[in-house]
Amino acid sequence: MCGIVGYVGGQSATPIIVEGLRKLEYRGYDSAGVAVIHGGQTQIRRAVGKLKNLDKLLLEQPLTGSLGIGHTRWATHGRPSEQNAHPHETDGITVVHNGIIENYLQLKQRLQEMGRKFKSETDTEIMAHLVATEMQGGKDFVTAVRSALSQVRGAYAFVILCQKEPDKIITAKNASPIVLGIGDDESFVASDIPALLAHTRKVVFLEDGQMAVLTKKEVTITTLKGEPVQFTPRHIDWSPVMAEKGGHKHFMHKEIFEQPTAIADTIRGRVLMEEARVHLDGMNLDVKSLRRLVIVACGTSYHSGLVGKFIIEAIARIPVEVDLASEFRYRSPVIDKETGILAISQSGETADTLAAIKEGKSLGASVFAVCNVIESSIARECLGSGGVLYTHAGPEIGVASTKAFTTQLVALYLLAIHFGRERGTLSKEKATEMLNHLRQIPQQIEGMLSREASLISIARRYSKARDFLYLGRGPNYPIALEGALKLKEISYIHAEGYSAGEMKHGPIALIDDKMPTVGIATSGPFYEKTVSNLEEVRAREGKLIIIATEGDSKIATIADDVFLVPKNDPLLDPILTVVPLQLIAYHIADLNGTDVDQPRNLAKSVTVE
Ligand code: F6R
Repeated sequence: MCGIVGYVGGQSATPIIVEGLRKLEYRGYDSAGVAVIHGGQTQIRRAVGKLKNLDKLLLEQPLTGSLGIGHTRWATHGRPSEQNAHPHETDGITVVHNGIIENYLQLKQRLQEMGRKFKSETDTEIMAHLVATEMQGGKDFVTAVRSALSQVRGAYAFVILCQKEPDKIITAKNASPIVLGIGDDESFVASDIPALLAHTRKVVFLEDGQMAVLTKKEVTITTLKGEPVQFTPRHIDWSPVMAEKGGHKHFMHKEIFEQPTAIADTIRGRVLMEEARVHLDGMNLDVKSLRRLVIVACGTSYHSGLVGKFIIEAIARIPVEVDLASEFRYRSPVIDKETGILAISQSGETADTLAAIKEGKSLGASVFAVCNVIESSIARECLGSGGVLYTHAGPEIGVASTKAFTTQLVALYLLAIHFGRERGTLSKEKATEMLNHLRQIPQQIEGMLSREASLISIARRYSKARDFLYLGRGPNYPIALEGALKLKEISYIHAEGYSAGEMKHGPIALIDDKMPTVGIATSGPFYEKTVSNLEEVRAREGKLIIIATEGDSKIATIADDVFLVPKNDPLLDPILTVVPLQLIAYHIADLNGTDVDQPRNLAKSVTVE
């Protein structure tokens, strides 16, 4: 969601801040701004829209100074506008903020009664007023921030400047991420690591309820009460180029093509072939005592949860429920100590998923996560409980999730084999066979990617359709949902995913010669039934694009277009069948000229409810 960057040191702050914000563009935003203190004055530049508008403003009205903060905003309170863009300033106190102040109406009313005038509709501006009020009462900057924080309820990451104390930046967090960067005679703060990588690899993750003071020379961390916190910086070995497009037109395209490597990285070091077992580093779950598993996730990660249910029940015979995290937390779920709660999240910052596992934990369940971001909030919430299984997809920058999804599926497959072996539901022979199948996946995906041209032709034929139906059964039913989500989110074309067996209970009424149906009919136990559902589409003159398995010669007789995926274990088919659907969605969006990497209204990391 919103991005934050702050700098104090010997260099010019503005370029460091703006370049840092650019590295966070993937999070989605609608306006941006920078504030710098120079010669005892705070100067602010803000612009609606993409960073290029802020760049233009900064060219016309440059900012000099070696201490500053910047922000990219994704509107929550108050529409996207220059006035509502961060930073917000009053009486020499300047604030940027991610998250939501829950008690902002009460605080705003109280501050207004004291005669304070607000310039924006945001909840953030309240923080500037609170700190300013405390300082007018005689407190120094640090003490004033501490007292202001004690009045605020909600999720936040604040970064604050004070004109009267122009040597420091203060930051504090609760539920929204903040990472500090330590350089030589310079310090950095950001909402995410990519913003810091060009300058330092020595970082510290601020914990909830902590506050940090950054000066050129040092970083000090305390609790909100002022007790000192000892910390050891971590070394981050991501290269900045890992976050570049690497010759592809869009990050999404690059990330689709990174799937073979990302999957191989997720499997690497975890398969013990001789024992036919899976070694899951970082997992402390008592697998044998588990009676039931509840998966909580949102969006694409929810779809991988639906595939996970299929795989885990089939292999490990544990009953699995899959819940949308936003529903789970509000429906008084039945949870006990023998229930494991598995959060699936690429970013590890999704507010609903984080809240769901906190709810589960408070009800006594062990919580664990499949997550792509080390030290993210969800990962840290699970570390002291059931642990974390990291997908090693690398940073995913395109808003539409692709490699994060397929690596989640791989992680779930590894988890299912681990559960099956530990609980005795999976024989050594069968596990060996499955692990061998899994290890073929990266190469099989490489092969499909080399046939991209045929998917571009399919995209060309259907790019002007206004509605699509996606059908699948069994483990490919969630892939129908995911294929439809990919298309709608990046091309703005209406698409619905359905279980093929449900079609005759309603959606069949939609079928005509103008609506393409994408059917997934790979060989295996669901093949015959799926094909007969697809024949019902054909009989109503619907156009059919079918994803089937290599060697299927019959399918071409009913399909208008066919894409064949390699043969593998039917339980692994979702990892293969989603790839052509990602590319069809990508090319349709590209042909229609939409903003593929940052589709309208969407954010990469949804840190508000
Ligand atoms: C769609 C997409 C979203 C996310 C969802 C959850 O392409 O990316 O639907 O899957 O917002 O995000 P994470 O996995 O970060 O919890």
